[in-house]
Amino acid sequence: MSVRVLVVGIGSGDPAHLTGEAVAALNAVDVFLVADKREATRDLVTLRAELCAAVITHGRYRFVEVPDPERGPDAQRGSAAYAEAVRAWHAERARRHAGTITDEVGSEGTVGFLVWGDPSLYDSTLRVVGTIAGQLEASGVEVDLTVVPGLSSVTLLAARHRIALNRVGQPVHITTGRRLVEEYDPALGDVVVMLDGDLACTGLVDAHPDLEIFWGAQLGLADEALVAGRLVEVLPEIRARRDALRQARGWVMDTYLLRPA
Ligand SMILES: C[S@@+](CC[C@H](N)C(=O)[O-])C[C@H]1O[C@@H](n2cnc3c(N)ncnc32)[C@H](O)[C@@H]1O
Repeated sequence: MSVRVLVVGIGSGDPAHLTGEAVAALNAVDVFLVADKREATRDLVTLRAELCAAVITHGRYRFVEVPDPERGPDAQRGSAAYAEAVRAWHAERARRHAGTITDEVGSEGTVGFLVWGDPSLYDSTLRVVGTIAGQLEASGVEVDLTVVPGLSSVTLLAARHRIALNRVGQPVHITTGRRLVEEYDPALGDVVVMLDGDLACTGLVDAHPDLEIFWGAQLGLADEALVAGRLVEVLPEIRARRDALRQARGWVMDTYLLRPA
């Protein structure tokens, strides 16, 4: 038995942001595996289904939900415990996916994983798929993997603000809200922050009062919001916009660039 696996970057949920290569890949899939992330992100599952319905030209594909293992309280863990918890979570997730592929996809089938934005940036799908492939190959199933790039939220952020991510010849540093305050240094150049549940940049205001921020939330979606300016001046507006978006949709995803003045 052999299974073709396509990991497809789908941008933000707007069909106009899919590449031609992604549309062709989506049309080749028999079974899309989606992690069942319970009610919290049901909205995202719906967005993915709508995206497929908009661009797939046949009715032979289906979605199969794979129940996601529960995550522990990450924020309260130290780095070593956090890394171990993530490793265990990935292994269990992979085991569930390999089982579903064996049960649901016949020989010569094509499995699709839809990845928000681009698979190269803060997404565990490729690591999980690597583990799934190892498990399947150990049981005699050959895996043929293709990765199709997508439009990342970082690319969208820069385009919406009509900026380049770096200044001439300078570096760009991409990090998470969790690490920002600890590692921030103006020598890093422009800093892109993702996965920030609580605007960690607030902790930089006193030491770096001249930082500029280019902030974007729900990029590519109907409720997209943008704010730019001196961090210390626009933080209250960003906080208010963020709260309003979360209230209206139930969740908010935002990314921002910090630039030394
Ligand atoms: C798990 S990472 C996935 C990143 C994704 N692979 C990408 O290329 O954009 C999730 C983080 O990406 C950012 N993000 C994803 N979609 C976004 C959107 N539509 N608008 C703003 N930020 C977004 C947020 O920082 C969010 O916390």
